[in-house]
Amino acid sequence: MSFPKNFLWGVATSAGQIEGGAFEDGRTPSIWDTFAAKPGKTHNGGLPTVACNSYNRFFDRDLPNLIKLGVNSYRLSISWSRVLPNGVGQLNEKGMDYYKRVFEALNQNGITPNVTLYHWDLPQVLEDRGGWINREVIEWFGEYAYKMFSAFGDVVPMWSTVNEPIATYVGYAHGGFAPGYTNEAWGNQARHNILVAHGKGVEAFRAVSPKNAKIGVVIDVWKRHALTDSPEDIALMKDQDERNWKFYTDPILGGKYSDYILTQLEKEGTLMKMEPHDFELTSQPLDYFGLNVYNRVPVTVNQQAQMDFSQGGNFLNNRTEYYPKAVYDAIHLLHDLYDIKCPIYITENGTYFEGAEPVAEDGIIHDDDRIRYVAGFLEWLEKAIDEGFDVRGYYLWSLMDNFEWSAAYNFKFGISAMDFTTGSMTWKKSAYFYRDFIQNARGLS
Ligand code: BGC
Repeated sequence: MSFPKNFLWGVATSAGQIEGGAFEDGRTPSIWDTFAAKPGKTHNGGLPTVACNSYNRFFDRDLPNLIKLGVNSYRLSISWSRVLPNGVGQLNEKGMDYYKRVFEALNQNGITPNVTLYHWDLPQVLEDRGGWINREVIEWFGEYAYKMFSAFGDVVPMWSTVNEPIATYVGYAHGGFAPGYTNEAWGNQARHNILVAHGKGVEAFRAVSPKNAKIGVVIDVWKRHALTDSPEDIALMKDQDERNWKFYTDPILGGKYSDYILTQLEKEGTLMKMEPHDFELTSQPLDYFGLNVYNRVPVTVNQQAQMDFSQGGNFLNNRTEYYPKAVYDAIHLLHDLYDIKCPIYITENGTYFEGAEPVAEDGIIHDDDRIRYVAGFLEWLEKAIDEGFDVRGYYLWSLMDNFEWSAAYNFKFGISAMDFTTGSMTWKKSAYFYRDFIQNARGLS
């Protein structure tokens, strides 16, 4: 076993998916509260209003379970509209007090809080002012970031600015996520603005300069793989790689967009407005890079190749491919493309069950597929570490079943099951597996 001694072993969640307490203690709605309330936007109309109710159950339920799991880090996010009900300006004392108590309790129990500022839940009041397509959002985010670093910089050793900026593009260009627009040019403007806002956040962090704290960003890499080596498949792979993850990694790690993407968007008439100084911001040096990896994406224009793959591939019961090497490939790719110098943390990795997960006779869910998936990823992660790559942590998504965005409560990503009526949490078999794995890796067993 070659995971370093001080490796961070964690689970990850986000405010909009677990907290609930949507209208408590002065919080105002986020774009997800508004979006989910519109007909047909989420599975069965599921809302994030209560979710796992972590706003009221963190201390008596979430924390004891984190302790029992033996994790030494917990990745969570701050609800922007809970701490700044107007998006900017006056802080909400009650919201601030909640997070302070959460972060302190984690520290007291040897669990490093790893806090994301923006995990998709823009305050609705800011959306009403144009949201991510209004350039002023860069300043709004900078103010929010500055205030959080100033208040919590001494109790939170690990920060990230934004989680998966692609979700912002999806929200403005494809409509499947909040705020639900279907305008490609807006999507591109929104994703550019969020990348610049990220840089503004890093700048705020350096200005506050909290002692012993680190700042990073979280990007998801879903590498495309051409199923044949025909020029069409290779071109499709390249195009999708450019649009789906290089759009984010290029300006962050390379300081610019690729010529390919700029030319394409120009041709398509959807090129965003940019300012020269933007790229100094997007490429601010980072203390670490947060990498979310869930899978690879096989692509082809050839129907036969597609069919052969669907019949011959190695799949989990949820029909997603079992390809744990994805994590190893993504780490390699960051080095090959950008010669990345900062340490990497795997900030998310996990899989889901669709619908009601069957409970076995012993009263727990035997999620053997999830165990296989996680074990496979950890094996490939270990291989990358053995080869000398600087990876310092792994966070399993997720501590518990939660509000899975437009899939609401139908997709279950938890290593523990959540009874959304009573708020009680029951470990699945994978939680026991992960606890034992961590104990063994940390040399505690
Ligand atoms: C997101 C999470 C989400 C998970 C599973 C990630 O892309 O950061 O919020 O729940 O994937 O879909």
